[in-house]
Amino acid sequence: MKITIDKMKSMKGNEKISMLTAYDYSTAKVMDESGIDIVLIGDSLGMVVLGFETTQKVTMQDMIRHTGAVARGIKNAHVVADMPYRSYNNEEDAIKNAKLLIEAGADSVKTEKKPKITKTLVENGVNVMGHIGLTPQTITDFKVQGKDEEAAKQLKEEAIALENAGCYALILECIPMQLSKEITETVKIPTIGIGAGLYCDGQVLVSSDMLGLFTDFKPKFVKRYGEISSEMKKAIEDYKRDVKESKFPTDEFSFH
Ligand code: KIV
Repeated sequence: MKITIDKMKSMKGNEKISMLTAYDYSTAKVMDESGIDIVLIGDSLGMVVLGFETTQKVTMQDMIRHTGAVARGIKNAHVVADMPYRSYNNEEDAIKNAKLLIEAGADSVKTEKKPKITKTLVENGVNVMGHIGLTPQTITDFKVQGKDEEAAKQLKEEAIALENAGCYALILECIPMQLSKEITETVKIPTIGIGAGLYCDGQVLVSSDMLGLFTDFKPKFVKRYGEISSEMKKAIEDYKRDVKESKFPTDEFSFH
């Protein structure tokens, strides 16, 4: 059964929400078959798939292409597409670009901060997931956010502003667990944490991180549930050896 916005809202306080990123059809299909609630085509695409140093180089064309690929692999999960850097700088661009992502197969879009633009999107019929804390599109300081009283107060205000703007859920990235607990208890919409501790209503990770596919660096909050890159390396080395030693293709893999 398709996970709807109402379903996600009803999960707050009752059942934790599971969310992962995906960028391609095959991975999305595995995630859907595994029963993940939300699949995000994150603009982390820029780093873990396209090899850029930041998410800022991701374009609308990239996001449309990968959103389509992921959506084709999903039957049940809610599909969220990140709006890339500079694609929602003004209301007109935001509406146009959000609708392109929905047309590509997303059920909703995700924006970083910007309550005014969010409100406009919601008023124009687009479901929006918010994102506060460490927001990679604009931040220069890649460390835990909201550590002093003033910064914590600002994050709480941002959470409330995004809820009032009509977000159906909120990503809390890299903030102290006590603060994310307070935010989670303050807002009525579900909070989904990444590096934000156990008290959020759900959790999200970048799939390439948790599967051990992206190995350039590993943030403290990432738990590796797999070591895909080592497994790939072994398979590729085995294949290379078989080719070099004329052990592949055997009769079984040949036409007569
Ligand atoms: O781009 C992304 O993958 C994200 C997640 C870290 C939430 O925004």
